[in-house]
Amino acid sequence: MPGHWLLASLGKRVLRPGGLELTRQMLTRLRPSAADDVVEFAPGMGVTARLTLAQRPRSYCGIEREEAVAQHLEARLGGGHVRGVHFIRASAEATTLASGSATLIYGEAMLSMQTPEQKARILAEAFRVLQPGGRYGIHELALLPDAIGAAERKAIEREMSMNIHVGVRPATVAEWRRLLQSAGFELEWETTAPMHLLEPRRLLSDEGWRGALRIACNMLRRPGARRRVLAMRRVFRRYGSHLSAVAMVCVKPAA
Ligand SMILES: C[S@@+](CC[C@H](N)C(=O)[O-])C[C@H]1O[C@@H](n2cnc3c(N)ncnc32)[C@H](O)[C@@H]1O
Repeated sequence: MPGHWLLASLGKRVLRPGGLELTRQMLTRLRPSAADDVVEFAPGMGVTARLTLAQRPRSYCGIEREEAVAQHLEARLGGGHVRGVHFIRASAEATTLASGSATLIYGEAMLSMQTPEQKARILAEAFRVLQPGGRYGIHELALLPDAIGAAERKAIEREMSMNIHVGVRPATVAEWRRLLQSAGFELEWETTAPMHLLEPRRLLSDEGWRGALRIACNMLRRPGARRRVLAMRRVFRRYGSHLSAVAMVCVKPAA
């Protein structure tokens, strides 16, 4: 089971490297409002979707690759409950959405697990679906420093992929910038935060006391899952000085 679904099965809701605080900073810059047609790539547990929906956008569409996850979100937050809110099973590489149909797109902790070709296809899709002047936000894993050596990068990718059970291919901050710019976007804002996904203080601030307690109890009941979570945390700590969370907001230039 991929690490993010293992964490979700233990009760973890926030699955992105910079936590809720970095998400909030990104949303402050993206400013979702009643005038927006929003598309979220990879909504996962729907945590950011709820924050965005609280701003009552004109429409919202979550594009989630996992069928069961998309169906769960649709049943909880979508279609039947709120007009103009939908979650569909599709890849962010080919959303099936009309060109220029969104004013705001964002995605968190989803590009970092894609190959360079997939990253380029997802960014091209975001560019296509956005109206000129539309905003695009990302919140991803970054490697430090920009001049990180090839051997260190390979070791981090290999160990993280082995532990998390999905391909992990983060870029450096300078590479994320270049990727967005090569897709045609103009960068407006960026910031970084520590990659503390599994550190106790971050768990508390992301999940609250009740959530953290629920995760701790589930870990006690499931020794196999506990071992895997602790192994993931060991890798995050071993490479802590090379890992960061990064958020960027850019715009599709007006035609
Ligand atoms: C680490 S989780 C992050 C979930 C959520 N964005 C968050 O930050 O809590 C990765 C998510 O990306 C989704 N995903 C991965 N590749 C995708 C793709 N090409 N299109 C849509 N969703 C994708 C997975 O199904 C999963 O929900």
